Amino acid sequence: GKSGYEHYMLKEIHEQPRALRQAISGRINDLATSVDLEVDLPTEYLQSIEEIQIIACGTSYHAGLYAKELLETHAGVKVTVHIASEYEFNGDRDPWRTLVLAITQSGETADTLSALREATRAGARTLALTNTLGSTVTREADDTVFIRAGPEIGVAATKTFVSQVATTTLLTVHLGQVRGTLSSQATTEFLESLRDLPGAVQQVLDQAPALKRAAETYADSKAFFYIGRKAGYPVALESALKLKEISYDHAEGFAAGELKHGPLALVTPETPVIAILTNQAAAEKTVNNVKEVESRGAPVIGVASDSAVTSDIDTVFEIPACGPLEPVVANVVLQLFAYYVANEKGRPIDKPRNLAKSVTVE
Ligand code: F6R
Repeated sequence: GKSGYEHYMLKEIHEQPRALRQAISGRINDLATSVDLEVDLPTEYLQSIEEIQIIACGTSYHAGLYAKELLETHAGVKVTVHIASEYEFNGDRDPWRTLVLAITQSGETADTLSALREATRAGARTLALTNTLGSTVTREADDTVFIRAGPEIGVAATKTFVSQVATTTLLTVHLGQVRGTLSSQATTEFLESLRDLPGAVQQVLDQAPALKRAAETYADSKAFFYIGRKAGYPVALESALKLKEISYDHAEGFAAGELKHGPLALVTPETPVIAILTNQAAAEKTVNNVKEVESRGAPVIGVASDSAVTSDIDTVFEIPACGPLEPVVANVVLQLFAYYVANEKGRPIDKPRNLAKSVTVE
C-alpha cells in the first residue's frame, strides 16, 4: 500500500534514504577503502577496458550520463552513453576491450534489451544494472549488479534513479582503484559522499512544505527550464522529464552554457528557470547564466549548498554539501517540486496519460 501517502510517487520519494542505504549495504569494506559489487569482472579485464558503452532509456539514460561524468573523471576510462533505441555497435571498436553497461530499472525495456543483444552479437562483454530480480536483462547479460531500491510502483522513476547513481558510484570507485586512477583521497571523498547521501536526502525531504509552497507559486507558468553543468546537467534533464511526465507542463533541461546559444529566446517572465548550482566551480559559471535569465525577467529557483553562489537569487533551496553526489541531492528537491506542481493541478500522478511503467515495445 501507500503507507498513508497520497501517491506511490510521494511514498517512493520518501523511501530514498532507505533505498540508498540498501544500495551500498555490505558493498564497502570496514575501512572504507574498497568496494565489492559481487560481480565476476576480473581485474585484468577491468584494466584492459578501453571504452564503456552505456545503453539505457529515459531516466536510466540520465543516470548513465551521470555515471559517464564520474567514470571519465575518476576511473580514467572513456564512456559513451547511448539512447538504447539508437544504439549500434561500432565496427571499429574492439569488443574485447569494450564493456557494455545496460541500465534498466525494470530489466524489461525492449529498446534496452535489443541494444544489449546487438552488443552480445558483436562479442562485447555485458553488464546489467537493474532493480528487478529475475528480469530478462539479468538472464541475457553476462553479469548483473542489483540497485536494491525495492519495488517502484509510480510510473515516474524516482528512488531507482538515485539508486542507479549510487551504484554506478560504487562501480566508479572499484574501477578507479583497479585501474590506479583514483587517489586514496578521492576514494575517501566518494565513500564519504555515499555514506552521507541518505542523511542529505532526508534533510531535503524535511523541506517538503517549503517546496510545496514554491511549486504552488509557479504551477501556472507557461514552461519550466532547468539548467546545470557537469553532473548537474543530467539532473537538469531528469528533473525536466519528471515535471513533464506528471504535470503535463512543458519542461526542458539545458546545459547551462547552451542557453545563450538559442533557448534564451524562450525565456520570459512566464518561464521559471531552475538552476542546479552544484559542484563549486561549475556553479560559479552557472551563476552567470542565471544573470542572463534574470535580466529577461524570468523567476529563478536556485538549488545549492553554497549560499555564496545564491545571494542574488529570489527563491533558493539550500541542500547539504555532498561532494560528487550533491547533484543527486538537488534531484530530490526537484522530484518534490515536480510532484507538488502536478498535485496542485490534480494530475493522476502515479499513472500519467500515455505512459507505462515498463515499455516492452520498440
Ligand atoms: C521516467 C521513466 C522512464 C524509464 C524508461 C526506462 O520516469 O520511468 O523514462 O526510465 O522507460 O525504463 P527502465 O529503466 O525500466 O529501462
